[in-house]
Amino acid sequence: MPAPLLLALESSCDETAAAVIDADLNVLSSVVASQDDLHQQFGGVVPEIASRAHVRNLLPVLDAALERANVSLLDLSAIAVMTQPGLVGSLLVGLTAAKTLAMVLDVPLIAVNHIEAHLYACRMAAGREVFPAIGLVVSGGHTNLYDCQSAIEFELIGSTIDDAAGEAFDKVATLLGLEYPGGPAIQRIAATGNPRAFDFPRSFLKDDRLDFSFSGIKTAVRYTALGQPGSKQPPPQLDARRVADIAASFQEAVADILVAKCRQALQRYDRRSLCLGGGVAANGRFRERLDDLRREGIDVHIAPVNLCTDNAAMGAIAWELYRAGRFADLDVDVVPGLVRMQR
Ligand code: KG4
Ligand code: ZN
Repeated sequence: MPAPLLLALESSCDETAAAVIDADLNVLSSVVASQDDLHQQFGGVVPEIASRAHVRNLLPVLDAALERANVSLLDLSAIAVMTQPGLVGSLLVGLTAAKTLAMVLDVPLIAVNHIEAHLYACRMAAGREVFPAIGLVVSGGHTNLYDCQSAIEFELIGSTIDDAAGEAFDKVATLLGLEYPGGPAIQRIAATGNPRAFDFPRSFLKDDRLDFSFSGIKTAVRYTALGQPGSKQPPPQLDARRVADIAASFQEAVADILVAKCRQALQRYDRRSLCLGGGVAANGRFRERLDDLRREGIDVHIAPVNLCTDNAAMGAIAWELYRAGRFADLDVDVVPGLVRMQR
């Protein structure tokens, strides 16, 4: 008998995604429709535009996912959907579709936390148990540290008090005249720059708290690139070399902060495994710097790039919830902010 199948939907931010996954975590199909081109001119995601694009994209994406997996709706045993956190209008599009499908097909509905799904992508990629672990999710909307006791028990132990790491990448890229999304653009140009050209601030680096702050570094980059407000001295010309040096120094500072906080959390919670997810975990320099932790004996798991950025395949975590009997009622609602999940 073939393994039962689950359909997962994701629409929490600016990617509309659907995936079909079997109970052995094989991803039969994973389709992602990006809206980058719609938001590019604004330098960030515009919620209203995102919701409308989800409405347009969802059914074609769903059809494509079923077709690529070579299955029909009637083959599905459960519907999973990311219900938190995210943009409220965007989340609602996915949830409404998921509820409708669950009701019509008379199969269980499973509410998935998008951030926890990012961490579960490490379990999928590893093909073996990775929990208990410390988890770090660094995306455009979140910079969160978790103590992951198991695949379904996550405790939030630290987060950003202002900008998310990815947001800092995006804002710094805009300041430097680079395209959106900023992370890949900064990584590309940083490859030609000097990471020690500027000593940007590393907030909370020596602090005991497991939180992050990226507004100070963003301001420092602004002053370096555009000059101090009120200064009579014009800033040095922002030529290609200076842009590359600023990008490389910024990227190095962010990598320093992220690695340091992971190390602190691993020590405090006495964990030997580290799971990383979210768009910023795709950053090449950050990935290199994680070798420091590997040398210290930490089992470092990074989701592959296609599972780091937003997708529905990481909704495979729903199989863990399915097995634990954690189903959602049809009146379940979206939760835009990050709170502990009520199931
Ligand atoms: O997880 P994600 O795809 O979407 C959510 O925010 O949920 O993350 C997107 C973020 C953006 O801020 C983008 O600039 C950043 O991840 N990003 C990167 C890289 N690729 C994407 N940041 C640094 N280096 C990268 N290579
Ligand atoms: Zn995400």
